[in-house]
Amino acid sequence: MAQQEDVFKKIVSHAKEYGFVFQSSEIYDGLAAVYDYGQNGVELKNNIKRYWWDAMTLLHENIVGIDSAIFMHPTIWKASGHVDAFNDPLIDNRDSKKRYRADVLIEEELAKIDDKIEKEVAKARKRFGESFDEALFRQTNPRVAEQVEKRQKLHERFANAMNDNNLEELRQIIIDCEIACPVSGTRNWTEVRQFNLMFRTEMGSTADGAMTVYLRPETAQGIFVNYLNVQKTGRMRLPFGIAQIGKAFRNEIVARQFIFRMREFEQMEMQFFVRPGQELQWFEFWKQWRLKWHKALGLGDSKYRYHDHDKLAHYANAATDIEFEMPFGFKEVEGIHSRTNFDLSQHEKFSGKNIKYFDPELNESYTPYVIETSIGVDRMFLSVLCSSYEEQKLEGGDTRVVLHLPAALAPVKCAVMPLVKKDGLPEKAREIVDDLKFDFATRYDEKDSIGKRYRRQDAVGTPFCITVDHQTLEDGTVTLRERDSMEQTRVNVADLHKLIHDRVSLTSLLRKLA
Ligand code: GAP
Repeated sequence: MAQQEDVFKKIVSHAKEYGFVFQSSEIYDGLAAVYDYGQNGVELKNNIKRYWWDAMTLLHENIVGIDSAIFMHPTIWKASGHVDAFNDPLIDNRDSKKRYRADVLIEEELAKIDDKIEKEVAKARKRFGESFDEALFRQTNPRVAEQVEKRQKLHERFANAMNDNNLEELRQIIIDCEIACPVSGTRNWTEVRQFNLMFRTEMGSTADGAMTVYLRPETAQGIFVNYLNVQKTGRMRLPFGIAQIGKAFRNEIVARQFIFRMREFEQMEMQFFVRPGQELQWFEFWKQWRLKWHKALGLGDSKYRYHDHDKLAHYANAATDIEFEMPFGFKEVEGIHSRTNFDLSQHEKFSGKNIKYFDPELNESYTPYVIETSIGVDRMFLSVLCSSYEEQKLEGGDTRVVLHLPAALAPVKCAVMPLVKKDGLPEKAREIVDDLKFDFATRYDEKDSIGKRYRRQDAVGTPFCITVDHQTLEDGTVTLRERDSMEQTRVNVADLHKLIHDRVSLTSLLRKLA
């Protein structure tokens, strides 16, 4: 675990050193849980968004996109339940004056028990070697059984307290588990109270009577309130979907793990509107399809798992998360929810407008049911970055840091390098750049030794380096170096475009989903 934490620290500093992610307002000592994307980060992020957008809107003829405003009528957040229920339970330690999420303190306690169980299993695996029957050991070992029972009891108590919104019980669990403040080490806790996560601001001057508005905590509501506009103007028939990418804001209290939990972040959400009664079959479809989208990137199939929710929100009838194995464990990257007709019905009630869909086949009007797929751009970015990072030992004792980014997502697709800065090689290299730049993010680099230039490109994940040498001037060939294998092949300049395109285009990635 400690080793993984070290790797994570290295990834965070690599992200800064190579222009992927900077702390926001750094020269003013930063703003907690807010980050800026640098010159390479923004390209990687844009490529992730493009992959998602094209997968949704090009591959499904019944999905269209919108871009709704961040500010919306405040009643929308009343209708959606965010004003009353988008809360985190907070608790303060009186000695350290530090504030925590009560649910996170308890979840960490559960994770500690999980760790104990895994340690017992790992010890036994080492002791018994090849003959180790893990399933049997988990069932029969008394120490494991004791921890499993302890975990189950705690989990049940915790889930009930959360479901019943029982803040006193949450505090009591913290006391009973003897959870201490990591800073002061004491158990001198305040009461637990609810804290709404929405940022508020005011619209209009005070003289006019300013209105409290919220920075949207999810993009989904912009889709719900526009669904009938899109349906009517686009002459859409059920089932159909609306996709949106945009910023969302949450005043997160426990903001940790770099860009995993931010106060300003981006979501890619798609609401799929279906006939009532057909929602569970569409839920299954989207559950499979979204995992396929992730796996097509080739980051490693074993890094994903579903986490089906056994406790559902009152309006949902199925929900699952797609989790990705980050250096700090499996974590939610995407949520897929069958939200019934809850949101649309609420908007109908609060707006007083009829927003039912008229189904020409059934000749009746009804409120559609909705399947939602919701993925955080920044979490997706983090999963791509973490799984691509490698400190690779090379023959001869050297090491290189390389980002094995999926080629279609890489910020730079190819770098063109004259072997030396004379003899007409820079001019020839520029000529190649001028040809490739219309289709690929192409860099020109003539500084330092060729080895150093390769390392610089490896560190930002550039799939191809093209080296122009004296032979190029004679026979029109260059060396094409591939990032992961470091293999170099001699190819014709005239073939470069096709060779690169075949490997880096988004189309080849999208074709895997067809
Ligand atoms: N409309 C549904 C919705 O917003 P959510 O599970 O709260 O559901 C969806 O959020 C996704 O948004 C998460 O799976 C995660 O990837 C991302 N996300 C949520 N809160 C985030 C935060 N504070 N920082 C970064 N990403 C976040």
